Amino acid sequence: MMSRELNDRLTRTGKGEPAGEVLRRYWQPAALGDELKGGRPVVPVTLLGERLVLFRDNEGELGLIGRHCLHRGADLCFGRREDNGLRCPFHGWLYGRDGQCLEQPGEPEGSEMHKRIRATSYPVVERNGIVFAYLGPDEPPAFPNFDCFRAPDSHVFAFKGLWECNWLQALEIGIDPAHASFLHRFLEDEDPKEGYGRQFRDSAATGTNIPMTQLLRDYPRPEIRVEETDFGLRLTALRHMEGGLTHVRVTNQIFPGAICIPMSREMTITQWHVPVDDETCYWYSLFTSFDRPVDKDTMREQRLREHSLPDYAPLKNRRNNYGYCPEEQAARTWTGMGFDINVHDQWAVEGMGPIQDRTREHLGATDAGIVRYRRMLRAAIDGLAGGDETALPMLGDVDAARIAGPLSNDAIADTADWEAASMRADLERRAACPWDASI
Ligand code: FES
Ligand SMILES: [Fe+2]
Repeated sequence: MMSRELNDRLTRTGKGEPAGEVLRRYWQPAALGDELKGGRPVVPVTLLGERLVLFRDNEGELGLIGRHCLHRGADLCFGRREDNGLRCPFHGWLYGRDGQCLEQPGEPEGSEMHKRIRATSYPVVERNGIVFAYLGPDEPPAFPNFDCFRAPDSHVFAFKGLWECNWLQALEIGIDPAHASFLHRFLEDEDPKEGYGRQFRDSAATGTNIPMTQLLRDYPRPEIRVEETDFGLRLTALRHMEGGLTHVRVTNQIFPGAICIPMSREMTITQWHVPVDDETCYWYSLFTSFDRPVDKDTMREQRLREHSLPDYAPLKNRRNNYGYCPEEQAARTWTGMGFDINVHDQWAVEGMGPIQDRTREHLGATDAGIVRYRRMLRAAIDGLAGGDETALPMLGDVDAARIAGPLSNDAIADTADWEAASMRADLERRAACPWDASI
């Protein structure tokens, strides 16, 4: 159990809050590239409690600036995109992508007041379909050489979804390997070939016909190992099977707010959990294929069927009981909330309340990843408070180009050999990958 004070320290992300300052030391997803593709590339972005507007100027460059005009606070999301900036419709003040006010056309001729007006602005960069922003001080850090960034555009697909809860409980479900045997249990298996683009619908490893759904159902008590790495944590879930075999599932926590997990034999998911504010967050996923090019149309269409635009808000949500159906729960799925595992996760984390009250929780052995992660976050908070940025993973004197991978894979191995076998399965997949996935 945790004190209320510590729960606040770990969950609050506004400017100046301890965890908020840690999150601000890293690039954070701010929008999908898709959101800028319409006729009007101007998108409201609320990130870490800061209200911003993202736009593409006439030179094609992106700017992320404060959402409210510095004159009298009008909403710049309705601004006119002209003269290589964003012009406030109220009295015509014009802002460049760096936030500098360039014109105040209603002020007296020759006025230089605009030179003293500069909106908040943050660096942004688009990587493989996600626009990342850096809200911290000084220079942003380099991007690690992760697979999701190395893969060519043809082999990645980006999507996002809104959850109505704090970012930390959203992240913590991703470092809890045991829940998949329960929350995502399907009482019937499907042909893995029918499972394109969906998690846990493939076979449980290369060279086996056992569906992942069956494996999760049959072996609900994984042995969980957690190790610290350069980038965060590696979690290994061992499901010991009959005949001296073990299923090895390796997933990762990427500090501070992301995970990298296997989705199928072909794809991994790198997923960031980003605070909109303290009671709402987005998940952003980069699906990365180590085999065929990603069928982006199918992936997008599958997910748009479950979300409404422009907010990427899930159609199943607490207002309609997540589509809960007791007959389905009795016969087909563990939750009765359909076959999209995102909805199951969303129900689990939103149901905890806007910010989980960790003063009342009781952690068990399967929560080992969560315990280790909280320890890392506390160490980062304390390090930053003491002026030691090197206490933060991947910052300080680190060569980001050497932070590669991470290994994120399912394998079935002889129990005595599981560790080496998991590594071999990963290396084999990398060797056969059509883009350079070597490590
Ligand atoms: S409020 Fe924007 S120009 Fe006046
Ligand atoms: Fe899940």
